[in-house]
Amino acid sequence: MAGLRYAGMALLVIAATMAMTEANTIVVGGSENWRFGYNYTDWALKNSPFYINDTLVFKFDAPHNVYLLPNLYSYIKCDFRGAKLLASAPTGAGEGFEVVLNQWRLYYFASSNDKDCSDGLMKFFAMPLPHWQ
Ligand SMILES: *[C@@H]1O[C@H](CO)[C@@H](O)[C@H](O)[C@H]1NC(C)=O
Ligand SMILES: *[C@@H]1O[C@H](CO)[C@@H](O)[C@H](O)[C@H]1NC(C)=O
Repeated sequence: MAGLRYAGMALLVIAATMAMTEANTIVVGGSENWRFGYNYTDWALKNSPFYINDTLVFKFDAPHNVYLLPNLYSYIKCDFRGAKLLASAPTGAGEGFEVVLNQWRLYYFASSNDKDCSDGLMKFFAMPLPHWQ
């Protein structure tokens, strides 16, 4: 048993090392950037999976912004109560705003301005994976 546990630890260390060396930087929306009306759910599906320590870059103009929503319910409802503002304009200008996905958790991203989230499709979620191979 102790041997197995040791092997498990070794695997974790290898996985962590690989994740560190392979972290990617991904511009959210690609050339569309972070804007009203582009389908980010679709974008996230097509650009998945993301890995731990990958960097997401949000490039946007006012009045858009980037919030981290607390849970699936708030994400579905576009309910910003309890949400955390990550970036407002002009942080999205130029090189954009960077978020490192450094935790193994669900990240719910959305823009809060007017109908950005509900009608503008400016929301998606990401669950960064560890590298296992
Ligand atoms: C992510 O980056 C942090 C800081 O550089 C590092 O300590 C951590 O080990 C990395 N995690 C993984 C899974 O690579
Ligand atoms: C956005 O993309 C998702 C995933 O492909 C799809 O299920 C959804 O219907 C799309 N939404 C709109 C409004 O096109």
